[in-house]
Amino acid sequence: MANLFIKKPIAQLAKEGDLSSPDAHTGLKRSLSAWSLVFLGIGGIIGAGIFTLTGVAAAKYAGPGLVYSFMIGGVLCALAGVCYAEMASMVPVAGSAYAYSYTTMGELIAWIIGWDLVLEYAFGAVTVAAGWSGYFISLLHKTLGVELSDTVLQFTKGPWELVTLANGSQVHGIWNLPASAVALLVTAILYRGIKESAVVNNVIVVIKVIIVIAFIVLGWSVIDPHNWIGDAAKTGFAAFVPPRQMVTFEGQPLETFGWLGVLTGAGVVFFAYIGFDAVSTTAQEAKNPQRDLPIGILGSLVVCTILYILMALVMTGVVKYPLLNVPDPVAVGIDRIVELRGWSADSRKIFTFFVKLGALAGLTSVILVLVLGQTRIFYAMAKDGLLPWFDKVHSKFQTPSTATLVTGFFVMFCAGCMPMSLVGELVSIGTLLAFVLVCLSVPILRRTHPHLKRPFRVPFHIPVSILGALACLFVMWGLPLDTWLRLVIWLAIGFVVYFTYGIKHSRIRNQKN
Ligand code: ALA
Repeated sequence: MANLFIKKPIAQLAKEGDLSSPDAHTGLKRSLSAWSLVFLGIGGIIGAGIFTLTGVAAAKYAGPGLVYSFMIGGVLCALAGVCYAEMASMVPVAGSAYAYSYTTMGELIAWIIGWDLVLEYAFGAVTVAAGWSGYFISLLHKTLGVELSDTVLQFTKGPWELVTLANGSQVHGIWNLPASAVALLVTAILYRGIKESAVVNNVIVVIKVIIVIAFIVLGWSVIDPHNWIGDAAKTGFAAFVPPRQMVTFEGQPLETFGWLGVLTGAGVVFFAYIGFDAVSTTAQEAKNPQRDLPIGILGSLVVCTILYILMALVMTGVVKYPLLNVPDPVAVGIDRIVELRGWSADSRKIFTFFVKLGALAGLTSVILVLVLGQTRIFYAMAKDGLLPWFDKVHSKFQTPSTATLVTGFFVMFCAGCMPMSLVGELVSIGTLLAFVLVCLSVPILRRTHPHLKRPFRVPFHIPVSILGALACLFVMWGLPLDTWLRLVIWLAIGFVVYFTYGIKHSRIRNQKN
């Protein structure tokens, strides 16, 4: 019976990540600076979460307590983030959580986590591409007034989703063409080169951050603190949280709000933080990974957490939270800001246009960074022999070309036709599982390899990593049962691939035999 938990020696991993070792010369290009890494992190983080999910999180679960949901999400990600930072600076290799768990918990767990990361990165990109399509159509049709024929409309949603035609009737979509198109665009950029991808990402990040900051600045001075009072019987910080109560939400009775609602809201807005960990997958393309990866991971997380908390304060401060139950809450927020400032209807149009543009830009860079992360994970798994083909590096562009093409086409296909209700929550559960394993890897490696050089060390590593793992498990526990079932099915498919291919071709296993 093969040892399923065979471990990759840390020395080998360290050699692959050590810039002075020949094993570190993978053919990938080292061109990312600390700034590019921070920008990549922000590029991956700010997107569908803040531009869409905040609405439902506020209206349905947390009310103005949304700001606490973001704080809780930020603390949870910070706990996982410092663990990522320690692991990434210690073993700066492309595989991220997959590679770390290969040395700490063995091949089977590494395989599970590598396979699980497909949920975070590839399915994350699919989900965000669908959101991109929604914002794109809304920009064209509602903001710019472009008329779309019924046939065109049917090519804006997949076959599982309903489209409302001009006469008000509903039919099934045929293919979500804008979602597939943005995935194609992103794939082409990533194929062309990591430096080019970083430049595109930097430009997009500047646009979206300017728009987020403009929203905060314009909204701050017209906040009506009455909108923040969810619970008139309380004062101080507790007043933000509406009392727990039975409500009718979209025709269904629902017990919601209260601190439990804030926690559920944190589970929803957790999606908004996903992406900072993708920085660690570019370890073999960073110029000075040991110093810069922690800067990229934690720097982007800090910037985004601050922006998110301020956004939540402004959004719930200018609009009464029940009105935020829309797919574009930030656009609703800017509408209200313009109204409160007494600006003209024309300026409302211009601001709405820019907010939607910011959202589109935001979502584009999220897709870019998530697909990037996926290609590097596949690349690392193929280098270890657990997957075929994906370790091929383009001789001129120095990118993992096969992994990029396959991932890109997978995302294009799924974004075009998959039901989004099936994939959305899978992304969060997949990410949380990866976070749990990274948190646990820190104390394991501290114990088994105490003398390894750790350019970044988690302070108080035992309580921090255990708290991080428990917090992630807690949020996972709150996710619906069918999300868990889908996770189990996805992992079962992964086992089939592992036992029919991976186990036979594993390099470590073949070296040992
Ligand atoms: N954090 C990313 C987003 O919100 C996944 O779109």
